[in-house]
Amino acid sequence: MNIEKLEKGDYEHFMLKEIYEQPSTIADCMRGRLNAAAGWIKVGGIENVEDRMFNAKRFIMAACGTSWHAALIGEYLFEELARIPVEVEYASELRYRNPIINEDDVVIALSQSGETADTMAALELAKEKGALIYGIVNSVGSSISRITDSGSYIHAGPEIGVASTKAFTGQVTALTLMAIYMGYRRGTIPKSYYNQLLEGLEKIPAKVEEALKCNDQVKELAQKFINTNHTLYLGRGYNFPIALEGALKLKEISYIHAEGYPAAEMKHGPIALIDENMPVIVIATNKSAYEKIVSNIQEVKARKGIVIAIVTEGDEEISKIADYTIEIPDTEEPFTPLLSVIPLQLLSYHIALARGCNVDQPRNLAKSVTVE
Ligand code: M6R
Repeated sequence: MNIEKLEKGDYEHFMLKEIYEQPSTIADCMRGRLNAAAGWIKVGGIENVEDRMFNAKRFIMAACGTSWHAALIGEYLFEELARIPVEVEYASELRYRNPIINEDDVVIALSQSGETADTMAALELAKEKGALIYGIVNSVGSSISRITDSGSYIHAGPEIGVASTKAFTGQVTALTLMAIYMGYRRGTIPKSYYNQLLEGLEKIPAKVEEALKCNDQVKELAQKFINTNHTLYLGRGYNFPIALEGALKLKEISYIHAEGYPAAEMKHGPIALIDENMPVIVIATNKSAYEKIVSNIQEVKARKGIVIAIVTEGDEEISKIADYTIEIPDTEEPFTPLLSVIPLQLLSYHIALARGCNVDQPRNLAKSVTVE
């Protein structure tokens, strides 16, 4: 018995443990910030800098890797719910391209470690230019949390696996709380929808628990794809960043080439790759673009691609055309990323494990990229 074994508890790897912690880490992120019965959301970090947040001309979100994917979801959330213009930037690009950043901008940095060199440098630049800087960070007391004017910790606890899982859902939860709070206060969400969102969000930890029950099915499915060389992940709207995240998870721990794409972009290039050897993972839980995603799946099937679809429970239409379907619980559309990412985290974990890869410490990767 050593410390590592003790910390992993009954789990074989930190990554699996962290995937399974998500019902409680998401609940921890919401604790003290949301009460659906009483009808309130409270985000202390925003209250500290309320004037500048509410009067901002735009939000610029800066991050790297998985945190950048969370930021993309933030763009969808803030623009839809709070009607605030959002730009999402790779911190490594933002820092070197002489960007236009003004005093009435808010620059939001997302970082699990709070130590990523590029994100830190982008924030220093934004600070010099007079923007308000806000951090959505996991590591308490980290460099990014200290340099920011205000922020929200995600309270996910230490994340040891190099592949980020619970920090991602923590970041998305924090962004969701912020977007609903700001939307309601700005009058862009009607009271009835606000109450519906609060109730829906409060149920998410239990629904993540439910989504985790696909583990055995995903494990079995994973065995069919251990020798695959390429995969495509497709999603639309809120699930487009999940396609990117699913692909990144697979690449980094299983070393299988994977690309994430907005489903409708497929016909502008990647469709040429599809043949009977190409697994295509389609995140198909959207209500607003349901028929469109169905036709994307038909396009893949017409070229003999192998479709693995993530669907809402009870979906009958897609299960007739996809080769495999994995169900997740139903929820309000803005919350689907918190559920649809779960089977994709598990899929990459089981494929990597079956290929004999070092899941927690993949080659060439560091948990925190503190140098350029
Ligand atoms: O600590 P950070 O969130 O700033 O890290 C950013 C990326 O380095 C990180 O998300 C990386 O992409 C992960 N390995 C993804 O699983």
